[in-house]
Amino acid sequence: MAKSALLKSSLAKKYWMAASGLFLCLFLVGHLLGNFQLMIKPVAENGIANIAQEQFNFYAHFMTTNPLVKVLSYVTYLSILFHAVDGILLTIQNKKARPVDYVKNNPSANSVWTSRYMGILGTLILVFIIIHMYAFWGAMHFRLEPNYVLVDGTIVKDLYPEVFGAFKNSLGYTLLYVVCMFPIGFHLSHGFASAFQTFGLNHKKYNSIIKYTGLAFSILVPAAFAIIPLYIHFIL
Ligand code: HEM
Repeated sequence: MAKSALLKSSLAKKYWMAASGLFLCLFLVGHLLGNFQLMIKPVAENGIANIAQEQFNFYAHFMTTNPLVKVLSYVTYLSILFHAVDGILLTIQNKKARPVDYVKNNPSANSVWTSRYMGILGTLILVFIIIHMYAFWGAMHFRLEPNYVLVDGTIVKDLYPEVFGAFKNSLGYTLLYVVCMFPIGFHLSHGFASAFQTFGLNHKKYNSIIKYTGLAFSILVPAAFAIIPLYIHFIL
């Protein structure tokens, strides 16, 4: 009985991991599309406003004040927390279930390395998210005062120089972002397809579609995130 409860709870954990993970994949796509605005060339419009600054500040203001987006943001924070805590618990549970590797165990032949290091990759991503949110989300929510006047007269927080300047003025910061996209890519290369398997989508017809979509997602999304700081630092 106790054993079946344990199995049930570990299965439930896997479902929650898969659901929160897929939601975070959607978040990544939305976040990436919004961030592309940072690649607009910062030029003055009629000598008055910087178009890129105007547009990004308008976007950041909308993202922090629109009630629907606010709800989505809270779901995102909860998903990150849930995914991280559940992931740590599952890793511990798996280690406890098999504290010593089988004598003839040959992990590299039986599974890809990313699947065995999901816990470590996830922890690296969590460290990145903490550093990242402290820098930009922290500035937007706690450190900046509203002082930038949009063309329509609305006074908003001037997040643009914080983000643009962080990459433009520091090669180290730019490279940090590029390096941090690797654990995200490796984590997604296993996690994306694995989430579909958890939900039982395990069919000859769809397996290769899911596998290659996951692979494409895990390469294209982190690569696109990495291009933004590089483009700001070296080209804009
Ligand atoms: C080029 C790379 C990236 C840039 C320039 C960037 C920029 C930003 C900015 C400016 C904010 C603050 C937005 C605001 O509060 O209005 C933010 C928030 C956030 N970023 Fe990123 N980001 C990048 C990559 C990532 C990646 C790869 C992840 C996840 C692995 C991530 C996760 C988050 C989260 C969770 C928030 C808080 C979202 C919210 O408040 O709803 N970011 N990012």
